[in-house]
Amino acid sequence: MALTAPPGVFDILPLDAKEPWRSSYLWQHVKQQIRSIAHVYGFREIVTPLFERTELFKRGIGEDTDVVSKEMYTFEDKGGRFLTLRPEGTAPVLRAFIEHGLHQQAPIHKLYYVGTPMFRYERSQAGRYRQHHQFGAEAIGSESPELDVELIDLLCTVYRKLGLRDLKLAINTLGDTHCRAKYRSALLDHFGACKHALSEDSQRRLETNPLRILDSKDPRDKQWVQTAPRIDAYLNSACHDHFQCVQKLLGELSIPFSIEARLVRGLDYYNRTVFEIAAGELGAQNSIGGGGRYDGLLKMLGGPNLPAMGFGTGIERLIQTMLKQNIAPQAPSGPFIFIIPLGAAARKHAFTWMHRWRQCGLSVDMSLSEKKVGKELQYANQMQACWALVIGDDELRQEAVEFKHLATGTKKKIAIENLHGDPLNLCKHLHICS
Ligand code: HAM
Repeated sequence: MALTAPPGVFDILPLDAKEPWRSSYLWQHVKQQIRSIAHVYGFREIVTPLFERTELFKRGIGEDTDVVSKEMYTFEDKGGRFLTLRPEGTAPVLRAFIEHGLHQQAPIHKLYYVGTPMFRYERSQAGRYRQHHQFGAEAIGSESPELDVELIDLLCTVYRKLGLRDLKLAINTLGDTHCRAKYRSALLDHFGACKHALSEDSQRRLETNPLRILDSKDPRDKQWVQTAPRIDAYLNSACHDHFQCVQKLLGELSIPFSIEARLVRGLDYYNRTVFEIAAGELGAQNSIGGGGRYDGLLKMLGGPNLPAMGFGTGIERLIQTMLKQNIAPQAPSGPFIFIIPLGAAARKHAFTWMHRWRQCGLSVDMSLSEKKVGKELQYANQMQACWALVIGDDELRQEAVEFKHLATGTKKKIAIENLHGDPLNLCKHLHICS
């Protein structure tokens, strides 16, 4: 059997001509932009392990969710512990928050992770992978609606700074435990009346968590979901006011949104504000990012009773949307200088020049093959080097070399003794000519 990557996972190559979104320069660009914007918003990076105790996700995400009931990569280690490859980032961040007593250090914590691999055993298809990568942000310690909007604003700013347009923000509220108890019984009445027409999953969820039925993608459930009661009628005044305030603040920041009354999201920990951002270009898997409040989760995992809000956005879908919208940056060019030494003596010189120039931050490469000059120049062009420097015995004898600017064909002769001086002078000289 050929040793290819398993289904649903992929490699990120320096430049992937077939699937450009898997090119590492795009991932670097996106991650750099995200980091700098997250810092402007006061978020600091957190890195948690790739796997956690299975119990964390069962308790944190909810046993009834697809993620926990169907999609987790769980295994028993040699010590008999059940461990799971992280399917999402919120529960691990909270576990670390509790374990390190972060709440004792500051009243509010704003944490982010970027390029973090997540593992879900999903049916793989375009935009849905078994290992995907997220930028996520989690802010812990305030129940102010301003925090909800700050997080949504951060995500929208990231998308905007990357050049994305025409994204649709949908928001909803799930109320608190009191509102949900009433809403739950309304859903029980509604779905109970059509129980036998529902999918098996939804019939089961009717017993365990009827709210989950609203997130069903099964066509058998669709018409019953569409006619289900809406949560707004069951909100208490605190939850109603919170949601009103979120809408008002979004308006003040000129962030357009629509209210999607049946948006519940796929994880059980949410309360009050939930949101999703969709990109039309992505087709079936059009959710590029989403999140919400999870005020009870920290306490449920054994921590202090602190409210929190967060989101996650898939880097794959983000880059795919950038490419579809033609806003992805060009692949970076090759080295500033590519040296093509001909013969042993030239090679010796080239090798030490390359080292010295690199020490000064100049990007330089040299050919290590014995191919003909024409082939080497072709290679230098292909990797988009700026200058080529061919050096052989003749040049050494004449004590001068010629740099060739590959895009324009301009040539520049420089005495070898000048190459031994300050490399920055050489660099300046070549820059002026390029
Ligand atoms: P999520 O909606 O499950 O939320 O995932 C967040 C984003 O990750 C999605 O909007 C999507 O872009 C991407 N994503 C999810 N699954 C896949 C997949 N199989 N293949 C490709 N991309 C995928 C969460 O994970 C929550 N932890 C977000 C959050 C943080 N809520 C509060 N804090």
